[in-house]
Amino acid sequence: MLVPLVLAAASIAVATPLSSNAIVVSENVPTDAGPSVLQPFVSFSIEFAFFPDYAGNKSHPNVFSKNLLDNLGNLQGAQPIIRVGGNTQYAHRRTKAIITFTLIHDINQRTRDYALYNQSLKTATNGTIIPSKSTDYPTMLYIGPSYFESYSTWPGTKFTHGFNLGKNGSEGLDTLRATVPLACKALQGGKLAYWELGNEPDLYKTSAQGPVRPSNWTEKDYVNEWLTKTELIKKELEKSCPDMADNATYQYIAPSFAGVSNSLNPVTTWRDGLNTDHDIALNSEHNYIGGATQPGVTLQHTLMNHTSTVKSVAQHVNVSRILSSDHLTPNIPYILGETNSLYNEGAPGLSNAFGAALWGIDFNLYCASQGIRRTHMHQGLDYRYDSWQPIQTNKTTIGTKPPYYGNVFVAEMVHGGDDVQIVNLPLKEETEAAYAAYVKDKLERIAVVNLVEYNYTEADPTAERPSATYTFQVPSTKDTLSVQRLSANGSNAITGVTWDGWSYNYELDQGKPVRLHNVTVGETVPVQKGGIVEIEVPYSSAVILNL
Ligand SMILES: *[C@@H]1O[C@H](CO)[C@@H](O)[C@H](O)[C@H]1NC(C)=O
Ligand SMILES: *[C@@H]1O[C@H](CO)[C@@H](O)[C@H](O)[C@H]1NC(C)=O
Ligand SMILES: *[C@@H]1O[C@H](CO)[C@@H](O)[C@H](O)[C@H]1NC(C)=O
Ligand SMILES: *[C@@H]1O[C@H](CO)[C@@H](O)[C@H](O)[C@H]1NC(C)=O
Ligand SMILES: *[C@@H]1O[C@H](CO)[C@@H](O)[C@H](O)[C@H]1NC(C)=O
Ligand SMILES: *[C@@H]1O[C@H](CO)[C@@H](O)[C@H](O)[C@H]1NC(C)=O
Ligand SMILES: *[C@@H]1O[C@H](CO)[C@@H](O)[C@H](O)[C@H]1NC(C)=O
Ligand SMILES: *[C@@H]1O[C@H](CO)[C@@H](O)[C@H](O)[C@H]1NC(C)=O
Ligand SMILES: *[C@@H]1O[C@H](CO)[C@@H](O)[C@H](O)[C@H]1NC(C)=O
Ligand SMILES: *[C@@H]1O[C@H](CO)[C@@H](O)[C@H](O)[C@H]1NC(C)=O
Ligand SMILES: *[C@@H]1O[C@H](CO)[C@@H](O)[C@H](O)[C@H]1NC(C)=O
Ligand SMILES: *[C@@H]1O[C@H](CO)[C@@H](O)[C@H](O)[C@H]1NC(C)=O
Repeated sequence: MLVPLVLAAASIAVATPLSSNAIVVSENVPTDAGPSVLQPFVSFSIEFAFFPDYAGNKSHPNVFSKNLLDNLGNLQGAQPIIRVGGNTQYAHRRTKAIITFTLIHDINQRTRDYALYNQSLKTATNGTIIPSKSTDYPTMLYIGPSYFESYSTWPGTKFTHGFNLGKNGSEGLDTLRATVPLACKALQGGKLAYWELGNEPDLYKTSAQGPVRPSNWTEKDYVNEWLTKTELIKKELEKSCPDMADNATYQYIAPSFAGVSNSLNPVTTWRDGLNTDHDIALNSEHNYIGGATQPGVTLQHTLMNHTSTVKSVAQHVNVSRILSSDHLTPNIPYILGETNSLYNEGAPGLSNAFGAALWGIDFNLYCASQGIRRTHMHQGLDYRYDSWQPIQTNKTTIGTKPPYYGNVFVAEMVHGGDDVQIVNLPLKEETEAAYAAYVKDKLERIAVVNLVEYNYTEADPTAERPSATYTFQVPSTKDTLSVQRLSANGSNAITGVTWDGWSYNYELDQGKPVRLHNVTVGETVPVQKGGIVEIEVPYSSAVILNL
């Protein structure tokens, strides 16, 4: 067994609860459940500069990425939507394997560069890393015609393409005019989910990498610019892809703000007429729990901490309430169009550890329970919080990373079509969380995530691993419930994660599911008198009970 389940012996933390302590889970959807999640719920955002690395091109499609997306599509019942965007959407770039990159040591470079189109470029991208700005992504980026081939390598997947808003003046407009026809032709035939114009414009005035708008740029100025440029995009679509200029397919996600309290206010932005043209399908905002190098950030304090997750999501719940009470976004679902654990691309040992996968489960299910209807987990080559590294680089081994297994768990939990609702079941400690999933108003699953940090050490591989007992009272007439577990040796594990006995690791079958023979599966728990169900959950692991 991968995880030693020393059940009876190890329940040191939580005394076996009395039935009277059971968490009662109702048969039908309780009033505090979130609205139905959008399908797909589990989705991704891929940093613009690195999309060709993730997807490959016509002659070299990235099959590993495709296998991982297909797994989630099968589990969830809908293929993840891929938003192609991020900092390099309106800023910069580098790509390994596809291009060679140049290092420029220009500390004094103040102006910002943007993804610009170079028709003569033979490669998909030409990125330049400027270490004074970022060592993680290029801050100068040209894309060539073959960039758009990457939209053809994952059949059945829909994309959101991010256009450049940050670059102002004629260079930006020329790039917009040149890339609309390329993007629309690449996304014709049902591959387009939505368009996006601009990434995190609420940071344009204040960006650490050099402001791209004057300090007096207001919400109204942003809205006017967004409206003018989306109208230009629409005109270009009418010329190049007229079938994509009608209202049903011509839709945006916006405003894609980095946060709810930066230099532009999301509520003011909607009030100032962002949706004047009635072309916004989803209200997209971004979220990170904290920063990779922020002092005091640890797994237990920052990620494996339900309170911290609640606090982070509360800002969005707040904005969402104001928007709906002021009727500013009627029928426009609230999503996180870019999110992950720690901004600045994650911290090694935290964002890439199994503990971050457990965070991802709590964060995503909590979002679903609070009316955030879809989440796009952000990815980029060599980023520490990645669900997977799509190609081998000098810095990072190609492979499926622990956060992917968190995505798998969430996909399993939200399976069931267009009417799946998630409710948060309150637990006592901030190191634990539980959720119930209702499909068409009927209880289908209960998830428990134990967030007590447990370090595995090779020095003491047989160390006793504590576990906690959770008791539920369920409306079941069955004798037993089936149990599926997400396991790894500890919250510090960066390999050896399994879901219900499955591995999706690259080295086994390029990301296709492989059943391991050394992990116990087929576990059940009895339903006792009065519908009482007890489940042992080892520290730093998660479980789904199937009703
Ligand atoms: C279980 O099997 C997998 C795949 O063969 C292997 O990588 C892993 O190390 C094994 N785990 C243990 C605890 O033996
Ligand atoms: C565009 O690409 C061509 C071919 O690689 C190159 O010669 C030219 O310098 C590029 N232009 C810019 C502005 O990078
Ligand atoms: C397609 O990808 C391969 C592998 O990364 C690369 O060698 C090739 O140049 C790419 N083709 C184009 C047209 O960019
Ligand atoms: C890539 O961009 C850099 C920086 O603009 C430029 O110097 C170089 O010539 C470009 N390479 C190609 C092949 O376009
Ligand atoms: C364009 O960006 C520059 C900063 O790079 C700024 O000074 C200028 O005011 C901007 N123009 C507009 C119209 O926003
Ligand atoms: C904003 O600042 C720019 C100079 O950066 C100035 O030209 C412009 O008139 C100002 N706009 C307003 C509305 O004050
Ligand atoms: C399409 O959208 C435009 C802009 O909002 C609107 O004026 C027009 O009536 C819409 N057409 C249809 C058929 O809904
Ligand atoms: C969990 O997060 C909350 C809110 O950020 C914080 O006050 C608390 O100290 C954290 N708990 C632990 C164990 O670090
Ligand atoms: C909720 O929004 C209001 C109005 O924008 C703001 O004053 C308040 O601080 C926000 N509260 C939280 C918890 O974000
Ligand atoms: C990465 O490895 C290649 C050879 O595999 C080497 O040419 C290149 O210089 C290395 N890049 C860095 C940044 O170390
Ligand atoms: C786990 O290991 C990390 C890193 O060494 C350490 O900071 C943390 O306190 C350990 N946690 C526990 C519960 O032992
Ligand atoms: C997990 O623990 C088992 C048992 O101690 C050990 O054999 C295996 O190598 C560990 N796997 C990893 C990835 O550390």
